[in-house]
Amino acid sequence: MIYSRITGTGGYLPEKIMTNGELERIVDTSDEWIKTRTGIIKRHIAAENETTCDLAEHAALKAIAASGINPGKIDLIIIGTTTPDVIFPSTACLLQKRLGIHGCPAFDVQAVCTGFIYALDIADKFIRTGAATTALVIGAETLSRILDWTDRSTCVLFGDGAGAVILEASPEPGIMSSHLHADGEYNELLQVPAGISRYPEKLKNGTAFIQMQGNEVFKVAVNTLGRIVDETLEANHLEKEDIDWLVPHQANTRIISATAKKLNMSMDRVILTVDQHGNTSAASVPLALDVAVRDGRIQRGDTLLLEAFGGGLTWGATLVKY
Ligand code: ACO
Repeated sequence: MIYSRITGTGGYLPEKIMTNGELERIVDTSDEWIKTRTGIIKRHIAAENETTCDLAEHAALKAIAASGINPGKIDLIIIGTTTPDVIFPSTACLLQKRLGIHGCPAFDVQAVCTGFIYALDIADKFIRTGAATTALVIGAETLSRILDWTDRSTCVLFGDGAGAVILEASPEPGIMSSHLHADGEYNELLQVPAGISRYPEKLKNGTAFIQMQGNEVFKVAVNTLGRIVDETLEANHLEKEDIDWLVPHQANTRIISATAKKLNMSMDRVILTVDQHGNTSAASVPLALDVAVRDGRIQRGDTLLLEAFGGGLTWGATLVKY
């Protein structure tokens, strides 16, 4: 039996920091409102000439170094992103060139905030079937580019960043199971309702922005994440107390607390980084994972539950024996 194991992690946040105080000067909001409703203290914003591929490259190089592999060994590159550098080629192909890798499959996956969980599951399936041995899996976003900086209901929530993992074939688990879902019925709750083919003029004049019915999304998120926790535990014949660490999508501390409560988990077993960078969409789970691996909380042999929820609507979870 071939499994896939995470052998290296990396994360990167752009240098420029935007605090809640700075947002108070742009829109009618307050540090107090943002902190109590979301848990966010600050977010990082990509420089004008800095792209999603730049952030992905930084995170990838750190993950490659942590795993100790030669980049030439990588035979699959997948990037979860909703904010690619250009319409095409994919950001994964742009990164492939920078890493000096030739010939292996490289593609992007678009599942908004669930993008990394989708990408990880696809890479795991490539490895389990023998189609790849060493995958570079990334979540990377420059969501600041699609924010309406006059809309207080969205601009305070998001930030830019990238997280990466190296996934290698192994006789030992590894990724135990992944559970992906989507329901397009709810597409209008969270969307950028313009693009290449629909209202292309908004893309051209730079007004293709995120729109969100926040409190509706909040309710669906809490319900679906609760269900997916049960689904993942049942599939692996595990009890709630078997999970060592919850590594959730970092959108809102209140949503994360509700999922932890569902797992009877105290918050000291939850990796929480949303305060430091806001919602970085597909980058948030690998960023949080990298922080907890590097500070020594997550140890080899620990059982991790990774989960995410985002536009689509999409949601998913992965159980990992680290
Ligand atoms: N500052 C001050 N007041 C604000 C702000 C702000 N930045 N934003 C909204 N308000 C006001 C509203 O206008 C409203 O005022 P009213 O009562 O006078 O009408 C009040 O605050 C409450 O608004 P709600 O939207 O009901 O606030 P809520 O407690 O639901 O918090 C939030 C909003 C933080 C957006 C929350 O709903 C949330 O986190 N939703 C889920 C987001 C999410 O997880 N998205 C999924 C992933 S994202 C992706 O896939 C790209």
